[in-house]
Amino acid sequence: MQIPNWPISSERELELLREVLESGRWGGHSDLVKRFERRFAEFTHCAHGISAMNGTVTLEMALCAANVGPGDEVIVPAISFVSTAMAVSRVGAIPVFVDIELLSFNIDPKRAAAAITPRTKAIIPVHFGGAIADMDRLTPLASEHSLALIEDAAHAHGSEWKNQRAGSLSLAGSFSFQNSKVMTSGEGGILTSNDAGFAERAWSLMDQGRMPGGGWFHHYVLGSNYRITGLQAAVLMAQLERLPQQNAQRTRNAAVLREELADVPGLALQTIAAQQNANSWYLLLGRVAGRDEFHRALTARGVPCTPFYPHPLYGNPLYQRDNCRVEPCPVAEACIRDAFWLPHRALLGDEETTREIAAVMRESCRTTRTTMEVAST
Ligand SMILES: Cc1ncc(COP(=O)(O)O)c(C=O)c1O
Repeated sequence: MQIPNWPISSERELELLREVLESGRWGGHSDLVKRFERRFAEFTHCAHGISAMNGTVTLEMALCAANVGPGDEVIVPAISFVSTAMAVSRVGAIPVFVDIELLSFNIDPKRAAAAITPRTKAIIPVHFGGAIADMDRLTPLASEHSLALIEDAAHAHGSEWKNQRAGSLSLAGSFSFQNSKVMTSGEGGILTSNDAGFAERAWSLMDQGRMPGGGWFHHYVLGSNYRITGLQAAVLMAQLERLPQQNAQRTRNAAVLREELADVPGLALQTIAAQQNANSWYLLLGRVAGRDEFHRALTARGVPCTPFYPHPLYGNPLYQRDNCRVEPCPVAEACIRDAFWLPHRALLGDEETTREIAAVMRESCRTTRTTMEVAST
C-alpha cells in the first residue's frame, strides 16, 4: 500500500533554510520569523501571530495574557492531548474536565455550561482531529459568563467554520507544529489573535518581558524565552506553502473513505458539523465494535491506526490529586474503549490507496464482528 511517510519536505525547505543560514541571523529575531508570523496570521484570518517553541507554551501564554491564574477554573474537554490541561495547571489554575459529544469528539457545550461556577475564567475547546468544536454554542456561552474563549487549534490548521479559519473564532487560537502535525518544524507553535492588546501581552511573555518596539535590555513583565529560531521559521514557511494542497488532498480522500465506509455495521466515523466548510483532517476518527481486534487487523495489513488514548485526561497520574475537577464523562469513558484514529498521512496517498484502506477497514470490521459473534455463542 502506497501510504506516504510523514513529515514531507522538498527543495523549498532547503532554499529557505539556506536563506536564513546565509543571513547570519539564525535566532528568534530573524526576518523569517516575522515573515512567517505575518503569513500564518493572514492564513488564519488574524491580525496577529506570535510564534513560540511549541503548542503547550502557546496555551500557557494565552492563559497568562488572558489574566487566568491561581484559583481560577478553566473548562477543558476530558479528551485531548495532556497539554490542554497541563497549560491550565502550569499557570496555577484548576482544569475542569467536561465530557465530549457522542461522535464529534469535541467538548459538549451543554456540559460545559453546567460546569461553570463563579470561579470559571476560561473555556478551551479543542478542534479534535481538525473538526471544529461547536462555536455557535460556545461563543455565546463564553460571552454570557464573561469567560475567555481560547481555541486549542493544535490539530486544525486550515479548518474553517462558516468560512472563518480556526484560530480566528475566539480570543486566540493556539497551534502546534510538533512532528506529527499537518505542518511541522519538528517542534514549534503559534498563537493567533485579532485582539491587539492580547497579542502584545502574549508577545511580551514570549520575548522575555520586552515590549514590541521597546529596548533590548528593557523588560516589563515576567516573561520567558519561548522564541523559535529562524531555521524553524524557514521550514514552517515552506510547510505552510504546501498545506492548502495537502489539506485538499486529505479532504478528497476523506470523502472517498467516508463514502466507502458509510454503512458498515459496527463502525461510526466522526461527525463533522454542517457549519464546518474546510477541514485539516489531522486525524480520521471513529468508534468501532471490537476496537482492539480492529486495530490489530489494520496494523497487520499495513494501515496505520492508533487505539485512541488509554484514559481521559483525568486518568493521568498527574490528575489523581486534588488539583482538578471532574464532571461526569460517560462518552469520554466509552471512547477509551471503542475509539480509534488513522493519522493524516493515511489520507495523503492516491485514490486507489484510499480505496484499499477502505477495503481493509471494511474487512476488519466484518472479521471482528464474526469473532465477536462466535465468542458470544
Ligand atoms: C490538542 C493538542 N493540544 C496541544 C498540543 C501541544 O502541542 P506541542 O506538542 O507542540 O506542545 C498537542 C500536541 O500534540 C495537541 O494534540
